[in-house]
Amino acid sequence: MRGEICVGFGSLLSFVAVLLMIFVHVGQINTSNVPRSIYMAQVNVSAYGDAIHFAIIDPVFGLYTNNASAPLHDGAGLRQTYKFGIYSHCAYVNSTAGRCGNETIGEQFKPYDAITTDMSGNWTIFSQSFIPDSATFRNSNFLGHNSKAAYWMLLLGMLCGAAAFITGIAKHNMTFLVSTLFAIAGSLLLLIGASIWTVIIQRSAAINNLLVSSGNQSTPLGIIVSVGPGLFLTWAAFACLVVSVVPYMISCCTYR
Ligand SMILES: *[C@@H]1O[C@H](CO)[C@@H](O)[C@H](O)[C@H]1NC(C)=O
Ligand SMILES: *[C@@H]1O[C@H](CO)[C@@H](O)[C@H](O)[C@H]1NC(C)=O
Ligand SMILES: *[C@@H]1O[C@H](CO)[C@@H](O)[C@H](O)[C@H]1NC(C)=O
Ligand SMILES: *[C@@H]1O[C@H](CO)[C@@H](O)[C@H](O)[C@H]1NC(C)=O
Ligand SMILES: *[C@@H]1O[C@H](CO)[C@@H](O)[C@H](O)[C@H]1NC(C)=O
Repeated sequence: MRGEICVGFGSLLSFVAVLLMIFVHVGQINTSNVPRSIYMAQVNVSAYGDAIHFAIIDPVFGLYTNNASAPLHDGAGLRQTYKFGIYSHCAYVNSTAGRCGNETIGEQFKPYDAITTDMSGNWTIFSQSFIPDSATFRNSNFLGHNSKAAYWMLLLGMLCGAAAFITGIAKHNMTFLVSTLFAIAGSLLLLIGASIWTVIIQRSAAINNLLVSSGNQSTPLGIIVSVGPGLFLTWAAFACLVVSVVPYMISCCTYR
């Protein structure tokens, strides 16, 4: 009986880990309630227009659009916030209304491309001078590559977690050994994927402290990168899967 409880605990933890990763996967695939609220990173550009106005003094016309259904990557106008998931990113004109880009396997996190391709031509050129070349935020190659690599780690980590859960159901010493190995492999993959995302968000968030100046005064650039619930869910999934190794390992050695 105690063996059953021990295995049950392992199964529960690996099941929860898989469930959390499924939530991460649906993030930003469309704009309905649940997917909308799950994202790895958010870029809030609602104060950017004021910063540009501060720097160039002239009024800023036509930078933003209020049309929630305007297409992305088409110079149709900047939205207020951009949220990035692992299959797609969406741009929102207010807290609920927005539009998502096409879904791709392992969407690359390229916030600079996302915002500048939404601006009309002139503002794109202005932005090239406001956002310095050296900012990681602008290094779409680095961010894109790493986020794509992280995607595969997260997908494989989730599949390993599912394999640990399924093999654990068979209730046999041998399959518990397999579950243990899958749980260890899955934990490692989730750890790597979550770490990559943590680093790329942290490094692109250096843009948050950037200032623009006008004469002898300066003001924040108004581009704010922040971590989303998707990354917390990923870390939670990692924690569940890594803890599930213990009951699987105990069952593997002691189950009769
Ligand atoms: C975006 O930033 C502005 C201020 O810069 C803030 O008022 C607004 O609530 C933020 N939006 C979101 C969705 O965080
Ligand atoms: C918003 O954008 C869509 C798609 O481009 C367009 O069909 C629609 O007419 C626009 N609405 C307004 C009010 O401009
Ligand atoms: C967001 O914008 C949409 C369309 O532009 C509008 O229908 C909706 O009421 C707005 N929601 C909020 C919370 O402002
Ligand atoms: C998204 O997909 C549509 C239809 O497949 C295509 O016409 C459009 O160019 C794509 N947009 C981007 C930004 O790739
Ligand atoms: C900024 O420059 C203005 C005039 O150019 C001057 O009056 C003001 O004292 C300066 N402010 C600071 C903080 O140096």
